[in-house]
Amino acid sequence: MRKPFICANWKMNHLVNDASFYGEDLVNRIKMENVDLKKVDVAIFPPYMFMAALKVLFFLTGINVGAQNMHYAESGAYTGEVSPAMLKDMGIECVIVGHSERRQYFNETNESCAKKVKAAIAHGIRPILCVGEYLEERESGRYNDVVKEMLLGSLADIDADEMIKTVIAYEPVWAIGTGKTATTEQANEMAAFIRSVVAEKYGNEVAQQVIIQYGGSVKPDNIAELMAMSDIDGALVGGASLKASDFIKIINFDPAVVGKEPAVVE
Ligand code: PGA
Repeated sequence: MRKPFICANWKMNHLVNDASFYGEDLVNRIKMENVDLKKVDVAIFPPYMFMAALKVLFFLTGINVGAQNMHYAESGAYTGEVSPAMLKDMGIECVIVGHSERRQYFNETNESCAKKVKAAIAHGIRPILCVGEYLEERESGRYNDVVKEMLLGSLADIDADEMIKTVIAYEPVWAIGTGKTATTEQANEMAAFIRSVVAEKYGNEVAQQVIIQYGGSVKPDNIAELMAMSDIDGALVGGASLKASDFIKIINFDPAVVGKEPAVVE
């Protein structure tokens, strides 16, 4: 059984007061709406400086706090970077690796992603590896090859046990922040393809356990449809996660599809 996993990626947004208001607001709404966090994993990825405050606000609630990026080294002369040991030390549960904005603007490569995925798992932090094609790659029909290369490159040294602990987020770059969501069929087709690539490398038993998220203009009104698809197990949400009042509607998607059985991948 794959447990749904829904993440809020704040990117470079919010100030101190917004972050604490959000944290309190989310905790209250989760209580008021009786969201059962045993049935859905939820994580908030704020900028680094808000993590400690949110950890305090979320104490004993079951809401996880994650990092939007990290360095792969344990420590050292890397000005401006944050290490996996530091994240672990403050109780951070997960980390986004290789988001398309980091690949596009900060020279993140499959090689650096591979080191980060490995380092995160070594520290007991759950990595969310992002992959996804550009619009021209979608339109030229090369999208499966592009995503396969990103996946295999970024999972280079990962063994089967580590693979089970790794979450994959399929985020077509053309759907991020554009309001243009991939159709549920496009999203599910790619999620199933990603699962088949994982199955080729690690076997079907491993592939069936891997959580695959969709990201790119996920909103309260399209989440249930996405989550009902056979191979989509969660969502990485940007814009629509910036207000707790919107994000709660995403976490609290149609309960009929929470706890759905894993799909059978041939
Ligand atoms: P979006 O961003 O929901 O604003 O499209 C998703 C992401 O970049 O993770």
